[in-house]
Amino acid sequence: MTVYLVGAGPGDPDLLTLRAARLLAEAEIVVHDRLIDPRVLDLISPWAEVVDVGKRPGGPADAQDRIHRLLIGAAGRYATVVRLKGGDPFVFGRGGEEAEALRSEGVGVEVVPGITSAIAGPAAAGIPVTMRGHASGFTVITGHQDPTNARSIDWEAAARLGTTLIVLMGASRAGLIAERLLLGGLDADTPVAVVESATMPDQQVVRTVLADLPGTPVHAPAILVIGSVAGLDVTDAGLEDLVATTAHAASEHGGSSWLN
Ligand SMILES: C[S@@+](CC[C@H](N)C(=O)[O-])C[C@H]1O[C@@H](n2cnc3c(N)ncnc32)[C@H](O)[C@@H]1O
Repeated sequence: MTVYLVGAGPGDPDLLTLRAARLLAEAEIVVHDRLIDPRVLDLISPWAEVVDVGKRPGGPADAQDRIHRLLIGAAGRYATVVRLKGGDPFVFGRGGEEAEALRSEGVGVEVVPGITSAIAGPAAAGIPVTMRGHASGFTVITGHQDPTNARSIDWEAAARLGTTLIVLMGASRAGLIAERLLLGGLDADTPVAVVESATMPDQQVVRTVLADLPGTPVHAPAILVIGSVAGLDVTDAGLEDLVATTAHAASEHGGSSWLN
């Protein structure tokens, strides 16, 4: 008995892994989240049972336990059970909890990583999350913290990290997050990109600066990218411009070559 915890990627079915696509075609049952692009669901065999367990506001409080019970029951009845999750199953996807619940009932778990929206969102807007002369790291944070977690997110500390900040589930709290980051010392003119419905047909990218984020409408699902890279679109720039900018930035920072 094995349940496959499969990452569906950010939306565009071309961004699925080959293993994910194969498992979708082979599965006898697919239990999926709410944000899965319909074009990915189209890859499921027409004979498979498809169960949407996406949580909705006002849904039952024990929704997660119900999902665990459904998966454990399905593992006993079907040869190939796919639990399909947006992006990567282990990035804010409760994949860890589901794996633990399955293992505690003797059900095997295999994880098929997916391309997380934390990376694919910025990429879809032409934003490299790290780049010499701009950012030597990136930090992925939830804007919607688990209320049972006693340690609340220290946004002021995040402001001092000096990395690109990537916020998931931050659409309704974007203004608040911006205020905390400003308090933490980030410049008011720090570039921000809001990538909505990344890689989906209705993708939108809004560019702004941190001080203006509170007044910027953000529509979920959205990724907030905060930091100097958020001002770039390297896919839109001519190659010569990109090379010149990067080489210049690298030499300013003592880099020997932009190719390193
Ligand atoms: C519960 S988290 C799941 C994240 C997922 N496991 C991943 O790796 O991308 C849902 C959040 O991911 C982000 N998200 C997922 N898909 C997205 C997309 N196509 N465009 C923009 N944001 C997306 C949004 O911030 C959304 O609120």
